[in-house]
Amino acid sequence: MKASRLILLVHVLSTAAVLVHAFDPFTTTMVVGIGATLGRTIYKYFHESCDSKWIDFNSTALKTDLEQKLFGQHVASRIVLKAVNGFMSNESPKKPLVLSLHGWTGTGKNFVSQMIAESIFKEGMDSSFVHVFTSTLHFPHPIQIDTYKSELQQWIKGNVSSCERSLFIFDEMDKMHPGLIDCIKPYLDYYDKLDGVSYRKAIFIFLSNSGGESIVQTALDFWRAGRDRSEIQLKDLETSLSLSVFNNKESGFFRTSLIDRNLVDFFVPFLPLEFKHVVQCVMAEMKARNLDLDQDVADQVAKDLVYFPKVDRVFSAKGCKTIDSKLDYYTKD
Ligand SMILES: Nc1ncnc2c1ncn2[C@@H]1O[C@H](COP(=O)(O)OP(=O)(O)OP(=O)(O)O)[C@@H](O)[C@H]1O
Ligand SMILES: *[C@@H]1O[C@H](CO)[C@@H](O)[C@H](O)[C@H]1NC(C)=O
Ligand SMILES: *[C@@H]1O[C@H](CO)[C@@H](O)[C@H](O)[C@H]1NC(C)=O
Ligand SMILES: [Mg+2]
Repeated sequence: MKASRLILLVHVLSTAAVLVHAFDPFTTTMVVGIGATLGRTIYKYFHESCDSKWIDFNSTALKTDLEQKLFGQHVASRIVLKAVNGFMSNESPKKPLVLSLHGWTGTGKNFVSQMIAESIFKEGMDSSFVHVFTSTLHFPHPIQIDTYKSELQQWIKGNVSSCERSLFIFDEMDKMHPGLIDCIKPYLDYYDKLDGVSYRKAIFIFLSNSGGESIVQTALDFWRAGRDRSEIQLKDLETSLSLSVFNNKESGFFRTSLIDRNLVDFFVPFLPLEFKHVVQCVMAEMKARNLDLDQDVADQVAKDLVYFPKVDRVFSAKGCKTIDSKLDYYTKD
């Protein structure tokens, strides 16, 4: 079947070639010209470009993703939706959107950045307008800080020049050199234009674990007081978050003046995940793998993880990370 189709195709192509040869040079040029134009059109059609065909914010998609796929993060979910909706519906924002996502490991920070990317760019994280920088990967050696600085500035400038709707994700922000953070500050600020480039439609997302402990403490206080997790509000986390973030001498992020200059528009706290959320994560993973949903296996996988603090064992030490490999173990016999 397939072979015969191929033979047919080869036959058609060789006939076409013979035909082209049979024509005079003028016609040949025309045919080749039309072919080239067609080729360009097809290329443009499939190749990502900086226009509304490829960049088209879908608020409903972000809302459903946050509601259905993100577990146990009612505070983060609300802030992210509001922030991104507001920014994307503003025709002329005064500054780029800067979000700073904080929380314990495995609680969904990268996951949410991915959802944001997917709601804006057709190609999601694979879009050529989405740029991820990981401190330990892209800027590992403090000694080369000056090289990194000029590289990073050139990248940001180059990328925003070619598409003003660019998304930059800085992972492991707490491990980033303060000097490097300083050098991106101008791009986050209220400037009309910087060297002729406007950064006001860009989005910057910072991810870090700093403040994670204080968020855990607040969640634990609620739990110990027998209060429902859903009662936790931003204001319950805000003071302790900003204090712990400010006072963390270790972290480069906060020794810089990102905070005092109000360059970060929203601090987004991620709560530590409980047993029931881990179970939800396992069920979601089963569904993604087209396995039969099995509550017992999900419970078993969730029980295998480590929970803290030692006395109450409420929160998963690694959040929903590592359940992938655990699930393999239970579903393969
Ligand atoms: N709240 C959540 N709801 C649903 N799935 C989650 C949640 N948190 C984590 N996951 C799952 O676990 C995986 C790992 O989470 P993610 O990489 O987002 O963690 P993180 O917060 O960035 O952690 P780290 O601080 O270690 O980088 C995600 O890809 C997702 O599948
Ligand atoms: C937006 O997303 C929703 C949910 O994923 C989808 O049903 C809808 O078709 C999308 N709209 C557009 C305009 O792409
Ligand atoms: C855009 O950023 C990437 C890194 O994500 C970099 O490799 C690339 O050179 C940048 N493009 C421009 C035009 O500067
Ligand atoms: Mg992460």
